Amino acid sequence: MKVIITKDKEALADKAFEVMKAVVDGKKDAVLGLATGSTPIGLYARMVADHRKNGTSYREIKTVNLDEYAGLRPTDPQSYRYFMRDNLLDHIDIDLTNTYIEDGTATDAEKECERYNALLRRLPRDIQLLGIGENGHIAFNEPGTPFDMETHVVTLTENTIAANSRFFEKESDVPRRAFTMGPKNIMDAKKVLILAVGTNKADAVRAMVEGEVTESLPASILQKHPDCILIADEGAASKLSKK
Ligand code: GLP
Repeated sequence: MKVIITKDKEALADKAFEVMKAVVDGKKDAVLGLATGSTPIGLYARMVADHRKNGTSYREIKTVNLDEYAGLRPTDPQSYRYFMRDNLLDHIDIDLTNTYIEDGTATDAEKECERYNALLRRLPRDIQLLGIGENGHIAFNEPGTPFDMETHVVTLTENTIAANSRFFEKESDVPRRAFTMGPKNIMDAKKVLILAVGTNKADAVRAMVEGEVTESLPASILQKHPDCILIADEGAASKLSKK
């Protein structure tokens, strides 16, 4: 894993943008695996600004997202579909029919997971963007998720519900279940870009980079990816022994 440490979250977003822009410039019909959470917001803002200023086009680009809350409609402001439109997709020239995410309202969960896995096989990702949870989760793959798992429905841990409650009015509003790509789907992407900001991520970052590869720390699987870049700010990198 290549590790890049930046001074703060602004410098991190600049660096992440460089990596993403190289993929988009290199292939006009690239498939981008995208992520939600607060960490990628600065990167998305830079993609939007660059599109407006330099006309970088996404007309033939496709996107696939990592995860979606179960039970939320795409129009629900807390849904990840809404987040993606709000932060990126509605502000670039992408064709919305080329932007994919699990259907949180699907009643047959198994069928929806199969549909998404088939879609991911049809659209090999040139890059997969990731954030990391405080407990080392990637997407919604909580500790203990088998590494060979594909898209599935998860029951969120108390830790993740509490961490994500900042986006909701109250903790009881946070959905308890979500659809998520599995570790196997994530590892299938050609390139992985994982971003981490803040000292609350320092333990997870250290375990991911320097700890053993174990299903109890889902992000540790990335040590085995042939082209994975971690960009961490000084806070998130503060517990790494080799810098
Ligand atoms: C959620 C998302 C993850 C994300 C994590 C961290 O659990 N499902 O994909 O990485 O939050 O979010 P943040 O970037 O806000 O710290």
